[in-house]
Amino acid sequence: MEFSIKSGSPEKQRCGCVVVGVFEQRQLSLAAELLDNAAAGALSDILRRGDMDGKAGTTLLVHNLPGSLCERVLLVGLGKAKAFHAKAYVAAIRLAVKTLTDTGCSDAALFLTEIPVAPHDTTWRIRQAASNALQASYRFDRFKSNKKPVALRKLTLIVSRRGELAAAEKGLHEGIAIGEGCSFTRDLANLPGNICHPGYLAETARALAEEYQLECNILEQDAMAELGMHALLAVARGSAQAPRLIVLHYRGGKKNAPPVVLVGKGITFDSGGISLKPGADMDEMKYDMSGAASVLGALKAAAKMALPINLTVIIPAAENMPDGNATRPGDIVTSLSGQTIEILNTDAEGRLILCDALTYAERFKPAAVIDVATLTGACVVALGHFATGLFSSKPALARALLRAGEECDDRAWQLPLWDDYQDLLKSPFADLANIGGRWGGAITAACFLARFTEKYAWAHLDIAGTAWNSGKDKGATGRPVPLLTHYLMHYSESEA
Ligand code: BES
Ligand code: MN
Ligand code: ZN
Repeated sequence: MEFSIKSGSPEKQRCGCVVVGVFEQRQLSLAAELLDNAAAGALSDILRRGDMDGKAGTTLLVHNLPGSLCERVLLVGLGKAKAFHAKAYVAAIRLAVKTLTDTGCSDAALFLTEIPVAPHDTTWRIRQAASNALQASYRFDRFKSNKKPVALRKLTLIVSRRGELAAAEKGLHEGIAIGEGCSFTRDLANLPGNICHPGYLAETARALAEEYQLECNILEQDAMAELGMHALLAVARGSAQAPRLIVLHYRGGKKNAPPVVLVGKGITFDSGGISLKPGADMDEMKYDMSGAASVLGALKAAAKMALPINLTVIIPAAENMPDGNATRPGDIVTSLSGQTIEILNTDAEGRLILCDALTYAERFKPAAVIDVATLTGACVVALGHFATGLFSSKPALARALLRAGEECDDRAWQLPLWDDYQDLLKSPFADLANIGGRWGGAITAACFLARFTEKYAWAHLDIAGTAWNSGKDKGATGRPVPLLTHYLMHYSESEA
């Protein structure tokens, strides 16, 4: 999709569709009022007939409105004017774009972007509009024989004053980067396990490195064995696919500035291993590399924005399968950190690949390390599908991540990392066990990771409930790319 920014009046737009808002009880937005005036009241006539009253979630497409140059006018319900905040604004943008993609319209002018949304500024409005427009028109039809192409090619985002153009251009640039980062993540996460295996993830990372001139190192099995990453290797043992450790460096910051390190769980399929999962919905475990996909998407967005920071991405990639070589419940391995782990459940594999990647991160002397993982079903039980679980050893880092998520409505909610829970990971035979029993599973999983992250500021995002949708709209969401990218944008400002 192509975007441009403009200030202008709605009746003068020569395009396929002009999109304007209507608040509840048929209250016209400014742009709708201008169209209505040019049409000698034809718009308010339509509304008075009762076809639309401005409720959120409703739209009305009007053809050949007199007095304006566009082919169509799309009215979008905005709900109560007093309650028109961030969520309602983004929902209206998404609905508008979704509705447009169902028409034959190829170019449209969006006047929703000139409506004030307290407490946000123009940059925010345009950033959100661009990234959400890209997300609303996203399709994953790579494996469909009949692809229905989206006719919508061009979106013009309107601001009310020329003085806002510079702020809007900045928001547009950021919004496109975030939107494309999300689409990249969704494309990758939606791929099935037979195509997206650890080697495929590595090649994808290599291609990204090529595109943005990043340094890329990929460790194969032998190199990992030499280092002593036996927790990671234990997970891959039962699979015909060899594991990888993928490392990418983006260097947009000062030469010696410590990097932010993002670590993404890259289990390309999680069968559970010998602790085999039940059959229902097991296909969704192709999404168990969503953490990896999201850190690559965030890296892409940061590189596209040319953020003045150093950013390192580490992806432990493996497939968790049961065969004759597979790790058994009760097996004991030595992690890269030197700590020994009793693997009581081979389905708690995410923490095993992450702990070695987190220890590996130490060598980069990071400013902060954030891992992103579809780590526990327990996190979905705790928070459902709206909030990502956040854990952190450093309050300032937790605050920065919570704030970043609020800003783009890609929210996280913090859970505790108290020492009380550490006791649950005791093993009679090794330094720790890889499971902590029935209760507080998201927390005990995070506590396990905490044992490997004592040397730097660390946060953990459990995206088990937020990375994909199930049911009839099954598909990757692209979360938490917006959260991560907003965090990095703020981090770069604080560094400058
Ligand atoms: N990838 C799963 C977590 C998961 C399950 C995410 C369902 C989303 C939906 C993870 O590897 C896993 O299997 N975790 C186990 C841990 C348990 C064995 C302690 C779980 O959550 O059941
Ligand atoms: Mn598992
Ligand atoms: Zn898993």
